[in-house]
Amino acid sequence: MKEKIKLTNERFREGYHVAAPSGWINDPNGFCYFKGYYHIFYQHHPYSAKWGPMHWGHARSKDLVHWETLQVAIAPDSKEDIDGCFSGSAIVKDDILYLIYTGHHYYGDNDPDHFWQNQNLAYSTDGINFTKYENNPIIASAPNDNTHHFRDPKVFEKDGEYYLVLGSQNQEKLGRVIAYKSNDLKNWKYLGEIAKAKNTVSEGFMWECPDFFTLNNKEILLLSPQGIKSESEKYLNLYQTGYFVGHYNKESNEFIHGEFKELDYGHDFYATQTMLTEDNRRVVFGWLDMWESDFEEQEDGWAGVLTLPRELELRNNKLYMKPVCELKKLRTVKLNDSDAKSNQIICQNEKQVEINLKFNEIDDFVIEFKDNKGEVLKLTYQTRNNKLIVTKKDNRYAYLMEELANLQIYIDTSSVEIFANDGEAVFSERIYPNSALTIELLSVSKLGYHVETYRLENNAILY
Ligand code: FRU
Repeated sequence: MKEKIKLTNERFREGYHVAAPSGWINDPNGFCYFKGYYHIFYQHHPYSAKWGPMHWGHARSKDLVHWETLQVAIAPDSKEDIDGCFSGSAIVKDDILYLIYTGHHYYGDNDPDHFWQNQNLAYSTDGINFTKYENNPIIASAPNDNTHHFRDPKVFEKDGEYYLVLGSQNQEKLGRVIAYKSNDLKNWKYLGEIAKAKNTVSEGFMWECPDFFTLNNKEILLLSPQGIKSESEKYLNLYQTGYFVGHYNKESNEFIHGEFKELDYGHDFYATQTMLTEDNRRVVFGWLDMWESDFEEQEDGWAGVLTLPRELELRNNKLYMKPVCELKKLRTVKLNDSDAKSNQIICQNEKQVEINLKFNEIDDFVIEFKDNKGEVLKLTYQTRNNKLIVTKKDNRYAYLMEELANLQIYIDTSSVEIFANDGEAVFSERIYPNSALTIELLSVSKLGYHVETYRLENNAILY
């Protein structure tokens, strides 16, 4: 039997972010609730710290905070998914948990771009052991007006019927999302395209990982387009994750929508997936990395983590994203709760920490995240244009609608997630510090704020 790769060094292992026991991960998959547990799956290669034939890694949680790693859920071991179980989603029907995922297939000529994809089903009654459906594939091939890019099915139920949205590319090489409908999850009827890119430069040549849901009576199409051209302060990662807000016309199967907006402004964020909780919150997970990220942890036998679960809200036609309220459970020790003016060291020598800042008198400032050798990350705020800048090797930018009122920052061993103004702007960042962090705020005396910091649990994920 093939050996899973071993961890050789724990220096960058996270304290409360979902990751694999070892090996590579990318997209979150199959986010759902089944028999008392939240389940999250992820694209996983257990045999090396690099992307390879995709498996679905798996963890479950009772509270969205503490996760228990389970055995690999599905592996590329059947004829219909022999070169990879690519991204997909989950749904519960008649007390059975179904996974719908893409089967990846190479033509065997050593050309990684020469492939075809189909859609498959697996099911489980205990949420741990999965059986692949004997009549796979459930969708054997892409529709005629498509190219070979045909993947990442997101399943949902509406008015007693099941729908799938799929990431795809049309014959003109434009990214698009297509939809299918079913009443049994096994037989699917093609409904056609619900939305497509205006052009490659502004909206991309391929749309990956679509998700389609309703918030405040509007439909949101969340997706990860490939190929959007960078602008001076926008779309600076290799690929983006963002959304359109609009209205879906069921009769014409058309989604009429506004402009594409980025969901997160950080260097390391991609391939989101949402679910609706029992109490009606739309919660999203993303991959807290990007294809061109540094992945310094690869030297240690692993790569990639998921973001914190974040609640989505629609305000002024814009998605806000904030850590789910359950995450307060991570707090172990209150380190600070005080009013301050101008400069101060916010915390010293911490690995897992939550920082809450509420500004009552705003001014320009910088927050430096430093290890024992110096700065690993910097957040700059400019009052002139309500601008936030995150600096790692280079900059990422966000503009707020109004002046900055609050910041919530979650720091883990090798990641930082920054939420500004209750989630109006978010930056997701991986970092590779040499030591625990010291975080310092630098400003002139005009700045007035309240600071509250907590040390967080460092073993919330059970491997
Ligand atoms: C997005 C993606 C998906 C695909 C998966 C393969 O990051 O490219 O489109 O299903 O990763 O691992």
